[in-house]
Amino acid sequence: TNLLSVAQTQSPYFPIGTIAYSGGLSGVPGDLVAKHFNSLVSENDMKWSALQATPGVFTYANADAQVAFAKARGMKLRGHTFAWHEQVPAWVFQDATGNALPATPASKALVLQREVEHITQVLNHFAPEVASFYAWDVVNEAIDASQADCMRKSNWYLLTGTDFIDTAFRTARALLPASVKLYYNDYSTTDPAKLACIQQLVAGLKSRGVPIDGIGHQMHISLSYPTPAAVTHAVRTLATAFPGLSQQVTEMDIKISDPGYALYEDIPPAVHAQLGYAWRNYFNALRSLNGLIDSVTLWGQADNHTWLTSATRTEAPLLFDPSLKAKPAYWGVVDPSQLP
Ligand code: G3I
Repeated sequence: TNLLSVAQTQSPYFPIGTIAYSGGLSGVPGDLVAKHFNSLVSENDMKWSALQATPGVFTYANADAQVAFAKARGMKLRGHTFAWHEQVPAWVFQDATGNALPATPASKALVLQREVEHITQVLNHFAPEVASFYAWDVVNEAIDASQADCMRKSNWYLLTGTDFIDTAFRTARALLPASVKLYYNDYSTTDPAKLACIQQLVAGLKSRGVPIDGIGHQMHISLSYPTPAAVTHAVRTLATAFPGLSQQVTEMDIKISDPGYALYEDIPPAVHAQLGYAWRNYFNALRSLNGLIDSVTLWGQADNHTWLTSATRTEAPLLFDPSLKAKPAYWGVVDPSQLP
């Protein structure tokens, strides 16, 4: 069964994406990836620290290999990501001698100049392949809903205020065709305070004429949170507030609720079944939105490679097991009548 073909025959259609790992597909054959997904995003290799760890020295080997893979397989790409508080090298916020920049207008100008330079270099590099891209996460996780002004107190914010957001979108827009949509991407978008902050951010961007096309809902979720109804509520709230705003699910995976399991073999069949029903319920919710969600990306393919598994806890957040067999999760998405 082909995940993509099922997604296409459901109404409405949306592309189904997955990640490319550094240095390849981590044991998952390219055929499997291309059979089940039609959209690709680099897990780490298009982040600032991967592309420009050292000032002025750009390294594109991993990213280029992923773009070539996608192109050869007829898959479209999401770019990820320009301005994030993680995976950005320390030098971006330091002076030439390695000291932290003070919060001054000169520092702000310098950091914004570095941001413009980075985005410009990267987008010029990918310009020959731009037809393969359909989306770019321009700014990632800039919100902290516990702050009165909604803004995460990152180095970006402390040195530039919210200008790093405006500058990133304006710079990207000037270099990309309209066919590549520009996203603000964040997690916990169903949280009411976070959702309100996103609305405030988008309203501010729009009032300043900053070119944002859409919101990315990461959807790193668990069996117990949030409910599918909370997801549809968040999407409808943004769609109502901002008609024409594109919305995508950008990094979906589903964790087991606490206490969890140490080893993969410890996860009982009943929990795999529960995960399968959860995938069914979330996909039913996403499809019920009738196109308000226009793309869904899963943050991986098989449970052998997931950022959620640690030394003490094993997760089963994806559609295939470590031996690449389809799990109930897969059937929850593709054909729920096959669920145990
Ligand atoms: O590249 C180094 C390598 O040289 C070193 O030997 C190794 C030792 O730990 O670390 C490698 O870097 C790791 C990197 O992934 C590449 O594998 C980092 O430690 C590790 O922290 C990093 O994790 C990534 C994380 O973003 C960074 O915060 C995850 O793989 C990636 O799945 C995760 O993805 C993020 C999205 O971009 C944004 N939304 C949340 C999502 C999950 O955190």
